[in-house]
Amino acid sequence: MQSYLKNPLFKTLSTCADELGMECYVIGGFVRDIFLKRPSNDIDVVVVGSGITMAEQVKKALGKQANLAVFKNFGTAQIKYKDTEIELVGARRESYTRGSRKPIVEDGTLQDDQNRRDFTINALAICLNQDRYGALLDPFGGITDIENKIIRTPLDPDITFSDDPLRMLRCIRFATQLHFHIEDKTYQSLITNKERIKIVSIERIVEELNKIIKSPKPSIGFILLKKTGLLALILPEIDALSGVETINGKSHKDVFYHTLEVLDKLATKTDNVWLRWAALFHDVGKPATKRFDKKIGWTFHNHNYIGERMLTHIFKRLKLPMGEQMRYVQKIVTLHMRPIALVEEEITDSAVRRLLFEAGDDIDDLMILCEADITSKNEAKAQRHLQNLQIVRQKLKDIEQKDHVRNFQPPIDGKEIMELFNLPPCAEVGTLKTAIKDAILDGIIPNEYDAAYSFMMQKAKEMGLS
Ligand code: CTP
Repeated sequence: MQSYLKNPLFKTLSTCADELGMECYVIGGFVRDIFLKRPSNDIDVVVVGSGITMAEQVKKALGKQANLAVFKNFGTAQIKYKDTEIELVGARRESYTRGSRKPIVEDGTLQDDQNRRDFTINALAICLNQDRYGALLDPFGGITDIENKIIRTPLDPDITFSDDPLRMLRCIRFATQLHFHIEDKTYQSLITNKERIKIVSIERIVEELNKIIKSPKPSIGFILLKKTGLLALILPEIDALSGVETINGKSHKDVFYHTLEVLDKLATKTDNVWLRWAALFHDVGKPATKRFDKKIGWTFHNHNYIGERMLTHIFKRLKLPMGEQMRYVQKIVTLHMRPIALVEEEITDSAVRRLLFEAGDDIDDLMILCEADITSKNEAKAQRHLQNLQIVRQKLKDIEQKDHVRNFQPPIDGKEIMELFNLPPCAEVGTLKTAIKDAILDGIIPNEYDAAYSFMMQKAKEMGLS
């Protein structure tokens, strides 16, 4: 802790606060992260008095290199200095009304300010005034909780969570990121207050979900969300994956736990957050397509296509970006069974070319998901699948080197076809275009202009166009 306090920035804050005769503390996540050894450049400062007056004083002391922004309505100010962001605010007391996350705010003492914090580990404060420089104020045993890896609210959790229900997701998110245990009373209160999540905006909910998904082991968060009943309220489609049904002694696997296993495995291979979302959703179409067949047992026909369609509604509801990112997740979900299916049928060049063409530059990401999707507990079977996927990978590489179909555009386009045959935009143009593309992907002709031209002329003749 001492080395942080040697930072000249803290010395400046200290001098300014003393000049103004204000108590001044660094507080919240920054202090927690000092003890967790997670360096951070976001510093929250609380003064007993006006945060804005303090910020103006600090700006004067730091000079031109500091940028000051004042938010009069909130009584807060922000200073950007080199790569550090300092938020300055007066200590406050908060009271909440039932229908809103927005508190009624009054000036208060440091203790009032610590009381309104979400978790004991987030209520730590370090004094910056010269006479108590570096003194730690830890009224709720936050340091002991960090040592014991425990998340607990400073006050009665029913009050903390009911006041600001976003904190329920923050609680689960911290447990996931830090691998901490949620203390029993705090955990029970998540269950009691879960319905309050309905007053939180979807943007804030998704911000927390994203942080859970980006964690090293996202399943910790999703299992907590499931067990507390929050998942059913915020992601009902994922909640619905859980459970095992048995008919005639035949059971299918629990798709919820399978999905989490896939997500955790994938998380060890990639930080691509959209690929992680794709892993979460890869089997989302299963409940809707589940059937029991007396001869073959459980089936989930077309669950990938149904899943792809469901994603449009899910992304819209979650206000996730519906352009490129959604299309990427949809593509991965649609194609997620193709590489394995390829092995089960026969790895023909033509099937590999089609997969390359459809996946394009996302083929490597697709293969990462397919490998993570192998969760069989039968070691020999899992090994066999993985080896087969290795063969597919090699084949993809060989074919791409030979035929360059990954970002393939057929050598003759619709415009040229219309000009050549003097056609308006019509079905025949599409038929010719598709025929050329299929012939190349099926290896009937090489991916070259002259071959495509001759093939097209022949086809046009058959169609009575020339
Ligand atoms: N806080 C709170 N209730 C919230 C949000 C924040 O009590 N719903 C308090 C906590 O004391 C927290 C501090 O405000 O430590 C700063 O919040 P923020 O910057 O959002 O989070 P951090 O705790 O710093 O963590 P992270 O940056 O990982 O979100």
